[in-house]
Amino acid sequence: MKRIKVELAAHSYEVRVGAGLLERVGLWLKELGFSGRAVIITDTTVNALYTGVLERGLDIAEFSVTVIEVPPGEEQKSLETAADLYGKLIAAYTERTTPVLALGGGVIGDLAGFVAATYMRGVPLIQVPTTLLAQVDSSIGGKTAVDYGGLKNVIGSFYQPILVVADIEALKTLPKVELSNGLAEVVKSAVIRSRSFFEFLGINLLKARDFHMKVLEVIVAETARIKAEIVEKDEKETGLRGILNYGHTIGHAIEAASDYQLKHGQAVAIGMMAAAKISSRMGLLDESEVVALEEVLVRAGLPTRMPDIDKEAVLQAMQHDKKVLQDKLRFVLLKSIGSALISDDVEPALVEEVIVGWG
Ligand SMILES: NC(=O)c1ccc[n+]([C@@H]2O[C@H](COP(=O)([O-])OP(=O)(O)OC[C@H]3O[C@@H](n4cnc5c(N)ncnc54)[C@H](O)[C@@H]3O)[C@@H](O)[C@H]2O)c1
Repeated sequence: MKRIKVELAAHSYEVRVGAGLLERVGLWLKELGFSGRAVIITDTTVNALYTGVLERGLDIAEFSVTVIEVPPGEEQKSLETAADLYGKLIAAYTERTTPVLALGGGVIGDLAGFVAATYMRGVPLIQVPTTLLAQVDSSIGGKTAVDYGGLKNVIGSFYQPILVVADIEALKTLPKVELSNGLAEVVKSAVIRSRSFFEFLGINLLKARDFHMKVLEVIVAETARIKAEIVEKDEKETGLRGILNYGHTIGHAIEAASDYQLKHGQAVAIGMMAAAKISSRMGLLDESEVVALEEVLVRAGLPTRMPDIDKEAVLQAMQHDKKVLQDKLRFVLLKSIGSALISDDVEPALVEEVIVGWG
């Protein structure tokens, strides 16, 4: 097992990464001083697969467990579902000291995290992520939210968990497309922060896509370490944490313009390519690095070319992005593989040229 510390003064916690960890969560909670009740919030798919083993460990540690299930899907990140969960927490006699475990992908992590942050002004939250995306990204850093009025993540708060447990074994049942979706965030982390990790990915991504457990453990732990390091320096995203949005400005726009036919990770992969091309045209990044990025994304099973969608719609969608400034655009750019910067100086004409002129 690998342990990564997220140092945030009074809100510090550990991310534990390894195979077969679900059953140990109960004893770890006991070690952290909890006893009595515990609540698991999960979705139907994950419930059928993993609640049993998590619950067994909690039983051994003498917790009395309530399981609350919601259907899978982004639509559950709503105030309506949150309200329903508050009611179920009250019915389960959940107190301020009762640990709430978010067992599932990023949807459950964000939703249960938001509910834990607000129920009784905050109850202890344990993130137990089961998708690659959740293990390397959404479970770490304390962003919790629901969607509202057609806008993603518009109601939420920063609320750090007290423990994150990423059981690599759980990835075995993940559909391949979900694995690649998570790999987009993995490649992003390497590209913005670590050339040596990027090189490791170049060699090992195919094994990862074949669910090689040891390789996945290294990948999850290293990506978690990068995220932890960035969050420690800028918890509330006033500066450095913004580099985690690499590929996301154009990525979000492509995702929206494709009417969500493309998955988030696929759109971000294309967004990363576009941002690399912009970096190169601005004279920041060597062209050979753009080629290297494309090779690694292909190995991750991700698209690297602009799909056949209305490019005007992509440009339109970008106008709504909160990261866009008035006349110049804010972008995360690359100086080299492993080193990113935030620029407020990107000419809209250049972005247009890259998007429109891209085959
Ligand atoms: N808080 C953050 O910092 C942050 C960061 C990135 C993304 N997010 C959010 O994360 C969400 C996306 O998360 P996601 O990609 O994990 O999607 P998801 O939670 O919808 O999970 C994808 C699908 O996989 C299923 N699943 C989960 N674990 C499984 C397993 N082990 N085996 C088989 N099936 C499994 C789920 O039931 C679901 O159908 C979005 O709402 C996004 O806004 C949050």
